[in-house]
Amino acid sequence: MHVSVVKESGHRERRVALTPVGVEKLTKAGHTVVAEAGCGQAAGFTDEDYRASGAEVADRRSVLATAGVVVGIDVVRSGVGSDHVLVGLVDPLWRAAEVAELAATGATVLSLELIPRITRAQTMDVLSSTATVAGYEAVLMAASTLQKMFPLLMTAAGTVPAARTLVLGAGVAGLQAIATAKRLGSIVEGYDVRPAAAEQIESVGGRSIKLDLDTAGSEDAGGYAKAQEAEVNLRQQQMLTPYVAGSDIVITTASIPGVRSPELVTAAMVEQMRPGSVIIDLAAERGGNCTLTEADRTVIHQGVTILGPTDLPSRSATTASKMFANNVISLLTHLCDEEGVLRIDTDDEITAGTLVAAGGRIVHPRVADAVARTAAPPTTQG
Ligand code: NAI
Repeated sequence: MHVSVVKESGHRERRVALTPVGVEKLTKAGHTVVAEAGCGQAAGFTDEDYRASGAEVADRRSVLATAGVVVGIDVVRSGVGSDHVLVGLVDPLWRAAEVAELAATGATVLSLELIPRITRAQTMDVLSSTATVAGYEAVLMAASTLQKMFPLLMTAAGTVPAARTLVLGAGVAGLQAIATAKRLGSIVEGYDVRPAAAEQIESVGGRSIKLDLDTAGSEDAGGYAKAQEAEVNLRQQQMLTPYVAGSDIVITTASIPGVRSPELVTAAMVEQMRPGSVIIDLAAERGGNCTLTEADRTVIHQGVTILGPTDLPSRSATTASKMFANNVISLLTHLCDEEGVLRIDTDDEITAGTLVAAGGRIVHPRVADAVARTAAPPTTQG
């Protein structure tokens, strides 16, 4: 297998999809690797590190000149063609129109977001890796924005009460945020619409909030949350209001695959918070969980700071890149046969679940639906 790793073009993306240690694993297994010059720089890996690990270092044109696998983080606009197998974050359910253009290049496209969440594929689970980094970084951002310290302190100058953190949405990012805030000494509460999350919140040191809402059917077969009825959402907002009002920090992480993020914190709820409080909205890219969130901008509303950073997964870029690279290598190894030759076997559950495009067309049913919805002309009345 020939693997190329490209330099990310997003101006705030600091990760690289394959680290020098990852290169070494692939070259030891008999594969060849070419790395685009400077690809690891923002994550702390030099071109020399890549060469020492067995990769050739070249410019973008040369990197793409050879047929084979191309790996990257945000790969939609990486410039691949029909002789490439593209592996990276494609976000195909949300960026359907761009993915349709990508499919038209004839490239074979594997979307890491779509790797099935099954035990066999756990080592390839890029979403868990990115969510882990984002949840951790959200707490650091909150701690440096809040003008209070996190832990309870008994000092000669008096008792300093612990900061109170509320985490809404307790998937991978939310649970990591709860654990991190707890380690810093905050009192932490968590809520998730999926009943199964209550135990997980408690297991990482948070207090689970139980609302008098029937959310038994809130989880789909894949373990993801389903969108709630508008009326249930409204009741959830009403019931969460006192918890939001009593918190110094609210971290929101709720998301539903492929659709706009649910609205959990309204402007009226923000207005109940004490001035100086902080909201970190991890769902900003898809509209946000807080009505007032503006992606990558600082909003101050009646003294409450609302931040919607979209680059949290690429902070701690060295760690984030190592995790990402391990996930990618695990997938590439899975895709190879015993002789180390890449085979796209659509009878395999992991490959079929991840394969978005091949032979110039979208082959993934859910992505094909999303593309058709995007392409459909708006219906007109009268
Ligand atoms: P996600 O990023 O899609 O969503 C984050 C959280 O928001 C979820 O826990 C979801 O239930 C919650 N949420 C959605 N709507 C909400 C609302 N209205 N109010 C409150 N919370 C709301 O989730 P993530 O982190 O990707 O995890 C999704 C599922 O996958 C979880 O059940 C997780 O345990 C499972 N999982 C399974 C893995 C495996 O088996 N290999 C690995 C990682 C996660």
